[in-house]
Amino acid sequence: MRVLLVGATGMLGTEIKRILEPSHEVITASRKGSEVSVDLSDKASIVAMYGTVGKVGAVVCVGGAAKFAPLDSLGDDDYAFSLANKLMGQVNLVRCAIGHVDEGGSITLTSGTLAHQPMVGSAAVSIVNAGVEGFVRAAALELQAKMRVNVVSPGWVAETLASMGKDASEGIPAADVAKVYKRAVEETMTGQTLLAAKS
Ligand SMILES: NC(=O)c1ccc[n+]([C@@H]2O[C@H](COP(=O)([O-])OP(=O)(O)OC[C@H]3O[C@@H](n4cnc5c(N)ncnc54)[C@H](OP(=O)(O)O)[C@@H]3O)[C@@H](O)[C@H]2O)c1
Repeated sequence: MRVLLVGATGMLGTEIKRILEPSHEVITASRKGSEVSVDLSDKASIVAMYGTVGKVGAVVCVGGAAKFAPLDSLGDDDYAFSLANKLMGQVNLVRCAIGHVDEGGSITLTSGTLAHQPMVGSAAVSIVNAGVEGFVRAAALELQAKMRVNVVSPGWVAETLASMGKDASEGIPAADVAKVYKRAVEETMTGQTLLAAKS
């Protein structure tokens, strides 16, 4: 299957590429350093990406950003950035996919644990992650005849915790998270928020 992987150069994208490549043709996308250039915060860029890539069997998105900062320092620009980037970027990835994803194909988006387990500084990120999950539940109802749509909530990734100087054993290895994305591509679920677990 042809799989378009957005955010392919990142921590999770690298592992997802590694796990999909033996059985699928992976087309990589991100703002820089991938086969296809895309900026999720720019809808025209998403349209152009689909035009360049042609038809695919699946789209996986592990790209996009949201602002992590204390509530009293989050400004209008921070909320606007977060909503336009990781939230509307992924929403537009689905909206613009019609006609570019094979019938019965799939789109898999990414949320995060802060949707349901917030922490100090996560207000904007929590909105975005919860919004992606709500969108997927609703959109799947209307897209059933066309494509499946799911979201993976990765939890804290072990390698990310390590890079932050925190206890990596509290997190889930990126390779285990990547297996959840592979399931979303290859199995038949739709409208689901899939959680990663240590194997
Ligand atoms: N790592 C964790 O512990 C963890 C936990 C929960 C949720 N998540 C979520 O999982 C996703 C991936 O995390 P990660 O740790 O793999 O992130 P990462 O290492 O920072 O990688 C992000 C990837 O997305 C691309 N990207 C960023 N902004 C983009 C944009 N506007 N348009 C297109 N591509 C863009 C980056 O490449 P360019 O910069 O070249 O565009 C890169 O390929 C994120 O949504 C993150 O919030 C991660």
